[in-house]
Amino acid sequence: MTSTDRQYFVDLYASDPDPWRLATSWYERRKYALTVDALPNERYRRAFEPGCSIGVLSELLAPRCERLLITDIVSAVVEEASRRLKTFSHVVVEQRAIPDWWPAEIFDLIVLSEIAYYFDAATLEAIMDQVIQSTEGGAHVLAVHWRGETNYPLTGDQVHGLIDTCDQLQSVAHYSETNFVLDLWERVA
Ligand SMILES: C[S@@+](CC[C@H](N)C(=O)[O-])C[C@H]1O[C@@H](n2cnc3c(N)ncnc32)[C@H](O)[C@@H]1O
Repeated sequence: MTSTDRQYFVDLYASDPDPWRLATSWYERRKYALTVDALPNERYRRAFEPGCSIGVLSELLAPRCERLLITDIVSAVVEEASRRLKTFSHVVVEQRAIPDWWPAEIFDLIVLSEIAYYFDAATLEAIMDQVIQSTEGGAHVLAVHWRGETNYPLTGDQVHGLIDTCDQLQSVAHYSETNFVLDLWERVA
């Protein structure tokens, strides 16, 4: 299977505005808490979260960032994320699809939360090239993904294994339990 196309997500959100219960489930709330607590720096200057959905994780990342860019491929969720984050003037929300679009900026934090397994391995490698191009030494890259069975092109474990092969990223933290895997890497200079 190649990368998951936009229509899959448009149809999913048309049938349910929060199909993964991101805003209401204890599982997500706990995972988000572990995600933000895994970030070593108290503050980040410029952070990027592609595939933000309705912005629930973004809302927890926002207070830790001086500028936060969040994007999603589906316009309806971009509107919802904009509403959720409207009190944070330093958060920019855009409808964009990676890897076709990638910000021409340097970030000190990139968060890949429950998005990278929607791409095939070649596309994820291209995305990681973009991650490396848009970070400098000391930047943090965090990935967190569901480990269960899906019909996505990659499993969560495959995603994290592939990211771990990037020579420019050094593992800082690894956490895995039955349902999800979380890794933090630091960009080497
Ligand atoms: C499971 S949600 C994850 C949301 C959020 N990152 C979190 O962890 O709560 C995956 C999101 O990625 C978006 N998405 C899928 N492919 C994308 C792409 N190529 N570019 C940007 N967003 C994409 C989907 O529309 C969906 O909202």
